Amino acid sequence: MSARRLDQLLANLGYCSRREVRAWLKAGRVAVAGRPADDPGVKPSPAAVRVDGEPLDHPDGLLLLVNKPLGLTCSHDPAEGPLIYDLLPPRWRARNPVVTSVGRLDKDTSGLILLTDHTELVHRLTSPKHKVPKIYRATVDRDLSPDLIPRFASGTIQLDGEKEPCAPAELRLLGPREAELTLIEGKYHQVRRMFAACGATVLTLHRTQFGPLTLGDLAPGKFRELALAELGL
Ligand code: URA
Repeated sequence: MSARRLDQLLANLGYCSRREVRAWLKAGRVAVAGRPADDPGVKPSPAAVRVDGEPLDHPDGLLLLVNKPLGLTCSHDPAEGPLIYDLLPPRWRARNPVVTSVGRLDKDTSGLILLTDHTELVHRLTSPKHKVPKIYRATVDRDLSPDLIPRFASGTIQLDGEKEPCAPAELRLLGPREAELTLIEGKYHQVRRMFAACGATVLTLHRTQFGPLTLGDLAPGKFRELALAELGL
């Protein structure tokens, strides 16, 4: 990225508005290369900037692995109720580019989801072209027949309103009414709709894996920072 003006840099990282930067400079809160900054138009290296004596907060972007609890919506619209972004510190929620989810999980789905402000990465990881496997664990309202395994694998399940049938998906039966499903695409409500197309209603849904990533011992509602290398791209 080309060098940004100090006021734009601080605003983009969610510290304050561009207008407010002047007051921050007057109050001596910002230093560049060890000296108090007084010009909002300088274009410093982010590594040389300190705010209240602290290095800048993730100037190179954010990539987070979140264990989404039930009841949070993957949306930026507060009218949609509690949001997944409410889990983040306020400064991260004020960043530009905005921190956004890589795909979505329903309000009633829990589990692994990535949040990032790397716009390119969102495209890369959600594009059907790249076939990133996602693993879900579902419980359903009736006994699942082993016949469903070849049906899910056949690539013929057709969802209402979709032009193409679902890509082949791997179904593993874990119990009479519990299964694990691996998808390489992400159509709207895909897991619930695939089971519905086979006559079963999903009662609970949890995503356990996204590409090579698992939740490990991350508790619901918690997140951890992720290194790009962990994505195995
Ligand atoms: N499929 C669904 O039906 N819901 C999700 O949240 C994710 C995949």
